[in-house]
Amino acid sequence: MASVTSLTASVHQRLADALSAALPEAGAADPLLRRSDRADYQANGILALAKKAKANPRELATKVVSEITAPDLISEVEVSGPGFLNITVTDKAITENLAARAADGDRLGVPFAEKAGTTVVDWAQPNVAKEMHVGHLRNSVIGNSVVKILEFTGEKVVSRHHIGDWGTQFGMLVQYLIEHPDALGHQAADASDDTAAGEEAMSSLNRVYKESKVLFDSDEEFKTRARRRVVDLQAGDPETLAIWQRFVDESKVYFYSVFNKLDVEIHDEDIVGESGYNDMLAETCRLLEESGVAVRSNGALCVFFDDVKGPDGNPSPLIVQKSDGGFGYAATDLSAIRDRVFNLKADTLLYVVDARQSLHFKMVFETARRAGWLTEDVKAVQLGFGTVLGKDGKPFKTREGETVRLIDLLDEAIDRASAIVREKAQDLSEEEIAERGAQVGIGAVKYADLSTSAVRDYKFDLDQMVSLNGDTSVYLQYAYARIQSILRKADDVSPKAHPELELADAERALGLHLDQFAETVAEAAEEYAPHKLAAYLYQLASLYTTFYDKCPVIKPKPPQDIAENRLFLCDITARTLHQGMALLGIRTPERL
Ligand code: ARG
Repeated sequence: MASVTSLTASVHQRLADALSAALPEAGAADPLLRRSDRADYQANGILALAKKAKANPRELATKVVSEITAPDLISEVEVSGPGFLNITVTDKAITENLAARAADGDRLGVPFAEKAGTTVVDWAQPNVAKEMHVGHLRNSVIGNSVVKILEFTGEKVVSRHHIGDWGTQFGMLVQYLIEHPDALGHQAADASDDTAAGEEAMSSLNRVYKESKVLFDSDEEFKTRARRRVVDLQAGDPETLAIWQRFVDESKVYFYSVFNKLDVEIHDEDIVGESGYNDMLAETCRLLEESGVAVRSNGALCVFFDDVKGPDGNPSPLIVQKSDGGFGYAATDLSAIRDRVFNLKADTLLYVVDARQSLHFKMVFETARRAGWLTEDVKAVQLGFGTVLGKDGKPFKTREGETVRLIDLLDEAIDRASAIVREKAQDLSEEEIAERGAQVGIGAVKYADLSTSAVRDYKFDLDQMVSLNGDTSVYLQYAYARIQSILRKADDVSPKAHPELELADAERALGLHLDQFAETVAEAAEEYAPHKLAAYLYQLASLYTTFYDKCPVIKPKPPQDIAENRLFLCDITARTLHQGMALLGIRTPERL
């Protein structure tokens, strides 16, 4: 199994060679190669080089053309306009390239990144004893895809689910449970029924949360006991910890049921919540104070920034320790950085967190830099995502103005998708309809989230998401299933590449796009941009549709070699769709 050099990379290399032969003083100059509508590629780099060398660009272009010797790869080079090159590659090169990809299993010729490192990705971070909402959809779905894309490039990825499992509200919850030992009820009876168990866990957590809050707000003595309980918790008192653990465990039953429905795999050992850094907090503060990075201000330990001011114009510091001695979100995140850099040996820290937390991360990263925990060799990035909006363009809320429960959204998407699958199904059993319905519904939700750039807000519109036409996962899933059906039906033809055959325009366009898969994955990994992969896959499905309209594969049956080559194109398209969708975390059912 070997990685495949893309046609783009090969053409680029030939052009760069010809350029330096034609203009030695230019050294290793970039021909600026792009895919183009006029020919397969256009090179625009000669203009600037000619200007620099005070040469006539068209003359230089002509000279470069005369230096290109790659008859197997390039069939035509034409000088156009003021000195562009239009380049056409041979049909043979296209088919041979695809054949090499097809021989490379699931990797489809995609090379591993030259320099792989270790990235710790902080993603899917719900909060204990709280309902998951649409914001947690985003940090789960985007995080899941980015992890898969990075791993595919050979990066070592460590996931960290920084769940909210610590803080003052746990004093209230634990105290309440001590005083009302049966309030959480018992573990859901049938743990195998994941959804029911999750629902039951969440509803008792909700109940305890509400009841204890009412008490906390109305009963001063309870409030005092709850506050004392926080101190016990942070001091590691065993009884307090054991009860706190019940809240965590019960919440995990719920989290896992949601992640399961969302078809996102989470591993228990990667769940290291805020509590996981408890032992480091005091030391983190001591180190910051000793080094002068943080200073005491009105009793609180603060880090100041010239460019961060509150609405009143006064500096607005990052508070690492409150004046009452309590540690907050910043102390935990700073401790997590120390753990991730020094213990996990990360050279990249990635945080898939709501863009509304970007000031927090800006200050946390800057503090860690000042403290020397983040050095020049370590990159820290927040992949900040935008807000999910309702159809009215406002942050998504229920009609009653409450935040929408993630699980309700997912159920609705699955219901809608199941209806579509049922309508189109010819030979599917009820069980199959349910399974496909879930794959289509969840795919639709994920794709809608992943197909726009993460920083942008987007509207949660189920009608659009499950539409069969347009830029949706359903469209891609149907394209995939249609190809599978063709492959099943073609019983006297097998996919086989025939590099000697001339290709139709639609075949070339499809082939050249398939060639770009590796570059697309590399770019999506480099920029943490799954939407680039989504756009690529959508275009792949569109080019396939055109090809399928213009170039009959089995009906009416073309000559055997053409049929084999077309079926080969079908097969590699399907495999690329499948792999690409898998990197987005979306299933591609074989039949729909
Ligand atoms: N639990 C937080 C939330 O629900 C997200 C945590 C983000 N990660 C972090 N290291 N601060 O918004």
